Amino acid sequence: MFHHAAGGYAQQGTLCGSIGSCAAIINLVAMDKDNTHMKLVGDLISWYSQCSFPSQRFDSIATYKKQIQTAAVSPLCHTSVSGWMMAAKSSYSAKDRKDRCAKVAADTVYQTVVMLNEYTEGKYKPLAAKLSKETENCLSCHGTKAADNQKGQMNCVSCHDDHTK
Ligand code: HEC
Ligand code: HEC
Repeated sequence: MFHHAAGGYAQQGTLCGSIGSCAAIINLVAMDKDNTHMKLVGDLISWYSQCSFPSQRFDSIATYKKQIQTAAVSPLCHTSVSGWMMAAKSSYSAKDRKDRCAKVAADTVYQTVVMLNEYTEGKYKPLAAKLSKETENCLSCHGTKAADNQKGQMNCVSCHDDHTK
């Protein structure tokens, strides 16, 4: 069902496929009129963007252990895996890259299960940190409470210059 999610959906480097697949599972479990599923998915995306991958949680079953970790920066496959490949001196077709992304998928599944367990026990609280001060600043003019002329909560300055400086 999620084979197409590989490589940020059909190798396009858009949303990391592990987020998209886990988001579908969250939707199945937690969808309600209060948009609980949206809150959980939003939290998963923020958590992912703030994470350094891969963890060593699955090293005992991985070929490559203690791999170099890099910050995902955004939920995009592109930034997440490109940053890692540069730091690891790897390439997309290399086996260590495949191991890295398998671990990222497993890390994201693990986080999803932690969140859904807490949700089921009625104890769920958002796990990701709030938006950065810089992004809050951008959204103070471009966000829903002001001009409302951009969509998203990604880290703006990872792609844009701050034109207010
Ligand atoms: C004080 C309000 C304010 C803040 C803070 C602000 N912007 Fe803007 N931004 C504007 C306005 C107004 C325009 C439209 C300017 C124009 O008419 O050309 C604009 C235009 C833009 C544009 C399109 C034009 C361009 O310069 O490329 C981008 C992209 C943009 N802002 C991104 C950001 C980002 C990223 C941040 C945070 C780092 C940010 N803005 C913070 C008010 C703001
Ligand atoms: C992953 C990269 C990326 C991130 C993160 C990102 N943007 Fe953008 N944004 C773009 C690209 C690419 C465009 C299209 C630029 C163009 O048309 O020249 C764009 C367009 C815009 C525009 C319209 C600019 C224009 O002149 O048409 C605004 C405003 C803007 N972004 C604000 C933001 C704000 C605010 C944030 C943070 C909440 C943000 N962006 C996060 C890549 C990004």
